[in-house]
Amino acid sequence: MTQAPPRFGIWALVHGSRAARQDPEEPFDASWARNRALVLEAEALGFDSTLVAQHTFNPHNPENGQLEAWTGAAALAAITSRIEIIIAIKPLLYNPVVLAKMALQIEEISGGRSAINLVNAWNRAEMDKAGLPFPEHDARYALGEEWLSVVEPLLRGERVTHHGAHFQVQDAAIVPAAATRARPRIYIGGESEPARALAAAQGDVWFINGQPIDDVAALIADVAHRPRKADPLRYGLSAFVIARATEEEAFAAYGRLAALAELDKPILARQAVHTDPAVVMKQTMAKSPRLGTNGGTAAGLVGTYQQVADRIAAFHDAGIETFMLQFQPFEAEMRRFAAEVMPRVKRG
Ligand SMILES: Cc1cc2nc3c(=O)[nH]c(=O)nc-3n(C[C@H](O)[C@H](O)[C@H](O)COP(=O)(O)O)c2cc1C
Repeated sequence: MTQAPPRFGIWALVHGSRAARQDPEEPFDASWARNRALVLEAEALGFDSTLVAQHTFNPHNPENGQLEAWTGAAALAAITSRIEIIIAIKPLLYNPVVLAKMALQIEEISGGRSAINLVNAWNRAEMDKAGLPFPEHDARYALGEEWLSVVEPLLRGERVTHHGAHFQVQDAAIVPAAATRARPRIYIGGESEPARALAAAQGDVWFINGQPIDDVAALIADVAHRPRKADPLRYGLSAFVIARATEEEAFAAYGRLAALAELDKPILARQAVHTDPAVVMKQTMAKSPRLGTNGGTAAGLVGTYQQVADRIAAFHDAGIETFMLQFQPFEAEMRRFAAEVMPRVKRG
């Protein structure tokens, strides 16, 4: 497979700060106004992609706000012109025909820049509050697999009739289909065995949680040999970046956030009550101390500008194309990354 150059994305701030939620340098703000400005600036700075995570309620602190993913992403699609917009989707929440319709509408609004990120949920509270079932881990994946087997041909503009364990679809075809390509891109986020099987069978890109490079290489090796119907699977990595001129400065910035993150322990303890213990992502994240969500600093992108650029290059050599990044305070650190790290990665 010819590997594309590294692509950089940002996690939209749909539920506020990623590493420490009580940071005087980044007061809580998950508003549309902030996300609008953030994504427009990311696009202007040269970022290639943004990931809009999906949660109905703020999973860290339900008292706080939460940007709604699909309506927010539709608006982002309308105001941006180049950046890819990846929208998370939990099959438990959306009928596949309705979701395919929404996705193709955003494909049209964006002029062919949309993608879905299928995630199979960990936060039981999100379903309980809505009176929706929250099946056990592998059953969620079985449902997700069937859901995607309906959505994927609909995204390609095919007519679908489907009678399965979870969904009944009768003679459905979405019009208009994608105008500029076969269909929106499909990302799969999740780390367990059924997540890997789903990515290999039906994904375009597998999103891996931030973790050390040897672990990432082993995950890619595990999935890369699996049979595929379509083009080779591509890979994305979530990571939290702290880059500075010197290592001392980078570790001082890490220390500041780590001290603030201690204040969040009671919030995280409340969150843990609703977390499905079978979710492999949570098990991976418990293995090593880290800042940020979805692996965060466990990917090791903390250090000098050159060290961070070199580690990105090493991940790229291992197969990662898309780096979905978190920062804090987000805007300032994102600008620093664009100014100091992106050019070093490009220079090689
Ligand atoms: C890149 C990435 C993005 C994710 N985005 C979301 C999200 O938007 N909403 C959500 O509830 N979970 C999200 N998740 C978490 C998945 O729901 C979680 O990993 C899922 O339960 C899969 O479990 P597994 O790791 O056991 O396969 C994301 C995971 C990854 C890797």
